[in-house]
Amino acid sequence: MKNINILGISGSLRADSTNTLILKTLAAFLPENINFQMFEGLDQIPHFSPGLSENEGVIKFRKAIRQADGVIICTPEYAFGVPGTLKNALDWTVSTGDLNDKPVSAISASPLNTGGDKALASLLLTLTALGTLHTEESSLSIPNIKLKINDLQQITDEPTLHALKAQCDNLLKIIG
Ligand SMILES: Cc1cc2nc3c(=O)[nH]c(=O)nc-3n(C[C@H](O)[C@H](O)[C@H](O)COP(=O)(O)O)c2cc1C
Repeated sequence: MKNINILGISGSLRADSTNTLILKTLAAFLPENINFQMFEGLDQIPHFSPGLSENEGVIKFRKAIRQADGVIICTPEYAFGVPGTLKNALDWTVSTGDLNDKPVSAISASPLNTGGDKALASLLLTLTALGTLHTEESSLSIPNIKLKINDLQQITDEPTLHALKAQCDNLLKIIG
């Protein structure tokens, strides 16, 4: 069986991020032949400007994407949008084509009952501009996330766990 690499990218830099927890939880639903890695270092990527040379952070980010067969992004919403660090990192891939034809899953989670839906819609627009492969099933908005995590920092809400597994299954189907 072919080994498949999946890259998880959290839009949050917080150590106890709920979005990072979601990605780590979701990884448990991937079959054994899937290698899942979280990208670390979004904060090492400089502000994008056309013509600016890539630093080590950008090179690492682009390499991680190129080596991945599929990418799962899970992000909070800040001020009704995608966090600047995540959007900035994605902007570095606009002209490089690293995400072109790359299967992706896009997830947003929020303590509010809107589930970060505006950030998710914005992220999907960006992913479309970048030429990623995704279907109508490739996105998930998770509302009231803090109510779905227990004191041991485990996601306990069954429908949410089921939806995360569905994201994995759908992404693997797109990867083929
Ligand atoms: C500056 C700031 C702006 C925020 N704006 C929104 C927002 O527009 N919509 C929303 O659902 N949550 C908003 N939040 C709440 C975040 O969703 C919440 O802090 C969440 O836990 C961050 O994700 P994380 O746990 O993965 O770090 C905001 C939080 C901060 C600090």
